[in-house]
Amino acid sequence: MAHDFVTAGVIGLGTMGAGIVEVFARNGLDVIGVEVSPQALENGKAALRHSTDRAVARGKLSEQSQTELHDRVRLTCDMSDLAECDIVVEAVPEQLDLKRDIFAQLDQIVKPEAILATNTSSLSVTEISVATEHPRRVVGMHFFNPAQVQKLVEVIRTVVTEDAIVEDVQALVERLGKIPVVIGDKAGFIANALLFGYLNHAVDMYESRYATREDIDAAMQLGCGLPMGPLALMDLIGLDTAYEILDTMYKQGRDRLHAPSPIIKQMVTGGLKGRKTGRGFYTYDAAGSFKAVADSQTPLDGGAHEVGLRTVKTVGVVGSGTMATGIIEVFAKAGYDVMYVARSAAKVDAVKVAIAKSLEKAVQRGKITDEDRNAVAGRLNGTTALEDLAQVDMVVEAVVEDLKVKQALFENLDEICKPGAILATTTSSLPVIECAVMTKRPQDVVGMHFFNPAPIMKLVEVVHTVSTADDVVATTQDLCRKIGKHPVTCGDRAGFIVNALLFPYLNDAVKMLEAHYASADEIDTAMKTGCAYPMGPFELLDAVGLDVSLAIQRELYLEFRERGFAPAPLLEHLVTARYLGRKVGRGFRTYA
Ligand SMILES: NC(=O)c1ccc[n+]([C@@H]2O[C@H](COP(=O)([O-])OP(=O)(O)OC[C@H]3O[C@@H](n4cnc5c(N)ncnc54)[C@H](O)[C@@H]3O)[C@@H](O)[C@H]2O)c1
Repeated sequence: MAHDFVTAGVIGLGTMGAGIVEVFARNGLDVIGVEVSPQALENGKAALRHSTDRAVARGKLSEQSQTELHDRVRLTCDMSDLAECDIVVEAVPEQLDLKRDIFAQLDQIVKPEAILATNTSSLSVTEISVATEHPRRVVGMHFFNPAQVQKLVEVIRTVVTEDAIVEDVQALVERLGKIPVVIGDKAGFIANALLFGYLNHAVDMYESRYATREDIDAAMQLGCGLPMGPLALMDLIGLDTAYEILDTMYKQGRDRLHAPSPIIKQMVTGGLKGRKTGRGFYTYDAAGSFKAVADSQTPLDGGAHEVGLRTVKTVGVVGSGTMATGIIEVFAKAGYDVMYVARSAAKVDAVKVAIAKSLEKAVQRGKITDEDRNAVAGRLNGTTALEDLAQVDMVVEAVVEDLKVKQALFENLDEICKPGAILATTTSSLPVIECAVMTKRPQDVVGMHFFNPAPIMKLVEVVHTVSTADDVVATTQDLCRKIGKHPVTCGDRAGFIVNALLFPYLNDAVKMLEAHYASADEIDTAMKTGCAYPMGPFELLDAVGLDVSLAIQRELYLEFRERGFAPAPLLEHLVTARYLGRKVGRGFRTYA
C-alpha cells in the first residue's frame, strides 16, 4: 500500500537540514526537527526563521502561510520524538560512523513501515542501510543546496531497497514540487560526481595562483552562464562538507582529480568553512550570511593600476570570420577607430555588411539611434593590406585556429607595427607564447580570448605569457573595461580558465553515460535542476560541436597529462562516426 506521508522527521538542522524542514513544512507536512544540542537547535530555528522571513519580504510567502508553516514544525533534541514519523531524512555531517549510528538508533524508534532516508552526498547508502535491521526501507534522498530553491532530488536505491519504497519516495518528491531522478548507489551520484571534480580543479587554480578567486568565479559565471562561480559555491556548500565528499569520492574511485586540494583541509582546520562560519574563500559580514564583504584579497576598485598604461586610441583587427567580425563591432561601438584586415576585397565588404545588419537590428530594437549607427559605421576601415596596421596602437588577431598561420602573421606584424603597439591573439587553445616568440617584442604580446558571440558575451580572458610586460596586461585589462567587457586574467596554459574547468566536466559526463550509470536526459536534468546550470552537459556538447569539444579535451590531456582528462572513448567514437552535434543534425541526440 502506498505510504501516506503526514509527518516527516529531519535530523541535523545545518546548511541542508534547515532547508529540508522548510520544504516539507511548506508542502503541508508536519515536521519534527532534531538537533544534537540546544545551541544547534537555536541555530536551526534561526535559519528557518531567517529563510521564511526572506520569502515573506520577497512576496513569495504570505505572513499567514509563514505562521502556519512554523506551527507545523516542532524542534527537539530528543530523537525518540521521531516515533510517529512516516519518513525521516537524516542531514548530519558527512561522516559514515555518525550516520550509521543514527540509523541504528532510528530503526528502533520509528514504526515498522516508516521510511528512512539519508541526505548523504557521497557516502554509501548501502553501508548506512545495513546499520539497521530493515535495510529494505532505506533510501538516499539527496536534496541540493539551497534545498528550498533547487528542484532536483536524487533518489538513491540500494540493491536491497524495496521497489514500493522507491516509488513512494518518488511520489513524495513530486508532492514537494521537486523533480526526482532515481539512481544507483555510487559515490557522488550524478550531480556531485560531475560537480566536485570541477570544484576541486577550480580550488587548485586558486591555490596555485593561476588566477584570483574573483576571476575564477567571474569566468565561470560570465563564460558559461553558471549561477555562481566555483569558489563562491564551495563557500555555500561548506568546505568541511566539500572535503568529506571529495575524500569519499577519491576513496571510491581513486581518481586523483578528486583528491581534495590541500588548501581545503587547511581552511577547514583553520575554521574557514565557508558561509556558515563567516569565512571561506570569501569573507562574509557574519556567520551564516550570504553577503560577502571586502577583505585583503579584494581587488582595488575599477582595476586601479600600479603600472602606467599604454595609450590605445586606434585598434587593428586581423580576420573576417565570426569572432573577428564580432570583435570589430565591439571596438567600433565603444568608440574606437578600427582598421581591419581581411584576405580579399569581398571579405572586407562581407564584414561591413554583417556589421551593418547587426547595427540595423540594434536600431530597430531601440538600443542605438540612427546617429549611433552611422558613427559606428564611420569608424570602420577595411583593407587587404597588413601594412595598413603600421600606425595602430593595438592589433587583435582572430584568424583561423592554426598555429602556423598565426605564427606567420605575428612575424609580419612584428615587422609592420610601430614600436610599443600591443599585439593580441584571440586563440582559444594555442599557447600565446608560441606567437610571442615569433616577434622580437614578446613583452608586447598578450592573449585576449573573447567568447562567442563577441558583441554579447561579457567575458574576456586576458592571458599573460612568461614574457608579457605588466603594462601590456594592465592596458589590455583596461581596454576590456572600456569596451564594456569583464576581463579575467590568467597564465598561458591550455584551456585558460573557462575551457580548462568546463571541458573535463563535460568529458566526465560522457564517461558517466558510457558507464550506463544514468541516461543523457537524467544527467542533463540533474545538472539543470540540481545546480541551476543553463544547459545540461549533453545539450552543451551538441551545441558546441563534438569535434571542437574533443579537440579541446585532447589539448588539455596533452598539456597536463592527467589520466582523468583523457577523452572519453564514446566522444571519440561519435566524432569518428561524424555525429558532431547540432550542426550536422546528430550528436548525443538527433535533431529534426
Ligand atoms: N552542504 C551542501 O551543499 C549539501 C548538499 C546536499 C547534501 N549535503 C549532505 O547533507 C548532510 C548535511 O550536510 P550540511 O552541509 O547540512 O552540514 P552542516 O554541518 O551544515 O549541518 C549538520 C548539522 O547536523 C547536526 N548534527 C551533528 N550531529 C548530530 C546528531 N547526532 N543528531 C542531530 N544533529 C546532529 C549539526 O549540529 C549540524 O547542525 C551531509 O551528509 C552532506 O553531505 C550537503
